Amino acid sequence: MTLPTAVTPGKPDPEKCAFIDGVIARSTGRPGSLLGILEAVQENNPRKYLCSSELRYIAAKTNTPLSQIFSVTTFYALFNLEPQGDHTIYICRGTACHARGSRNLLESLRLDLGIKEAPDEGGADKLTLTTPDGKFTIRTVACFGQCALAPVVELDHRICGHLNERALAREVDALRQENHQ
Ligand code: FES
Repeated sequence: MTLPTAVTPGKPDPEKCAFIDGVIARSTGRPGSLLGILEAVQENNPRKYLCSSELRYIAAKTNTPLSQIFSVTTFYALFNLEPQGDHTIYICRGTACHARGSRNLLESLRLDLGIKEAPDEGGADKLTLTTPDGKFTIRTVACFGQCALAPVVELDHRICGHLNERALAREVDALRQENHQ
């Protein structure tokens, strides 16, 4: 299995190890404990992702095969194996949102944030793009289950419906302002 690219093998620093040890100690024996451990460790990372040194450490400490850890982290969309931006914007690429212009929203947002080229989406819920300055991550999802509000965009966990390109640009400007405060 190939390791994620933006990570370094080796052991996490002592502070991270202590944090992970604590999370494992509190979770051991609970149903779904591995998911909880991974979620807590990702949340503790300032860039909200799981690096390979953390995954290896968790595997060793929980006696879980590394291949199983990677299967879990690649199966669940909530886990990130690459550093995330300060702000995350999800654009729905489901059928209802596509019919109401979500591709245009995605393209205009990409241009607005200065991300030159979007690689092949590779599926409606697969795209993840982060600006080089680490301020924004754009992601796509297959459906938010809010199709009546199409096209739907989620900005930092806030769902916005019936968005057009201008309204989306305004929302992104507001997030930019937050960065400057
Ligand atoms: S298709 Fe976008 S919310 Fe369902």
